[in-house]
Amino acid sequence: MKAVIPAAGIGTRFLPATKAQPKEMLPLIDIPTIQLVVQEAVDAGITDILIITGRGKRAIEDHFDKSFEIEHFLKARGQEKQLKQIQNISKLANIHYIRQKEPKGLGHAILCAKNFINNEPFAVMLGDDYYVCDTPHIKQLMDAHKRLNASIISVMQVPKPHVSRFGIIDGKQMEKNLFVIRSLVEKPPAEKAPSNLAISGRYIVSPEIFGILEGADTGAGGEIQLTDALAKLCKKQVMYAHLFDGVRYDIGTKMGYYKAFIEYALSRDDLRDEAVEYLKWLTNKITNGSFKREGEERIVL
Ligand code: UTP
Repeated sequence: MKAVIPAAGIGTRFLPATKAQPKEMLPLIDIPTIQLVVQEAVDAGITDILIITGRGKRAIEDHFDKSFEIEHFLKARGQEKQLKQIQNISKLANIHYIRQKEPKGLGHAILCAKNFINNEPFAVMLGDDYYVCDTPHIKQLMDAHKRLNASIISVMQVPKPHVSRFGIIDGKQMEKNLFVIRSLVEKPPAEKAPSNLAISGRYIVSPEIFGILEGADTGAGGEIQLTDALAKLCKKQVMYAHLFDGVRYDIGTKMGYYKAFIEYALSRDDLRDEAVEYLKWLTNKITNGSFKREGEERIVL
C-alpha cells in the first residue's frame, strides 16, 4: 500500500514559527515531526510515500535527500554514529513529491495524489499529527482494512465542547473499536454533532475518492474538505471508523506541540532521566507558588 502525506498547509495556527519553515519540520527534540510520520509508515511496511508539498516547503525535500556536504564533514571528523543517523534518513523509504500549487484544503491536497495512486486503496497520514501507539497507528488501520476491504478512517473520542474543531462521524458500533459510518460532518456545532467521535489524522481510502474530489465545491473555511468528499463516498460504499489505540498529538497547535515535545523527551532513553528530574524540579516550583518568569535561578543538571 502507498501512503500520501499532505504537508502543504500554511500552518496559520503556528505563525510566526511557520512563516519561513514548514510546520511539519517542527522537531520533537531533534527529529522533525514529518520524519516520525514517515517512520510510522515504514514501521507499518509501507515503502512508497508521496509527500504533498507547496510554497515554502523545500526543507522537507532537503531533509529526506542525501546530504553530501554533511556526510563528508561527519566522515572527515570520524563522527560515525551521527553519519549513520543522517544516512539512514535518506534511505528510509522511496519518497516522492508533488506540489499543491495553492493550499486549497486537505481534499484538494489529496486530489494531487491521483496519478501516483494508480487506482488502489491508499493510506493518508497527516504530516502534522504524531501518535504514540504500541502498534503503529497506520498499521492498525491496514490490519482492519485487510479484514474489511473497505475505506476506513481513524477516530478518537473528544470532549463534547471540542467537537466543533473536528470532522465528526455518525456511526453504528459493530465491535469494541469499530463503527460503520452513516455520515460525516466537518466541524459541527456541539449541539448538532452526531457523536463525539472525531476524525483523526490517519485514513485508508478507496480511489473512488478522486472522482468525488474532482467535482468538489469548497466547504468549511472556503477549502475543499476531505471530510465532505468522504461523506459522499460513504453514501456509495460501506465505510468504517476505527477507534485507534494510542495517543495523538496535533503538532499544528501550540499546546499539541508543547505536550508532544515534553512527552517525546520522556520517551527517549538518552533523555528520560534528566527530563524527569527537570520536570520534578519545575513542578515543585509551580506547586510552591515560587515559579517566576524572570530572573529566577535555573537548575543545572
Ligand atoms: P491543517 O488544517 O492542520 O493544516 O491540515 P493547515 O491548514 O496548514 O493549518 P492551519 O489551520 O492553517 O493552522 C492537516 C494537514 O494537511 C496539510 C497540512 O500541511 C497538514 O499537514 N494540508 C492542509 C495540505 O497539504 N494542503 C492544504 O491545502 C491544507
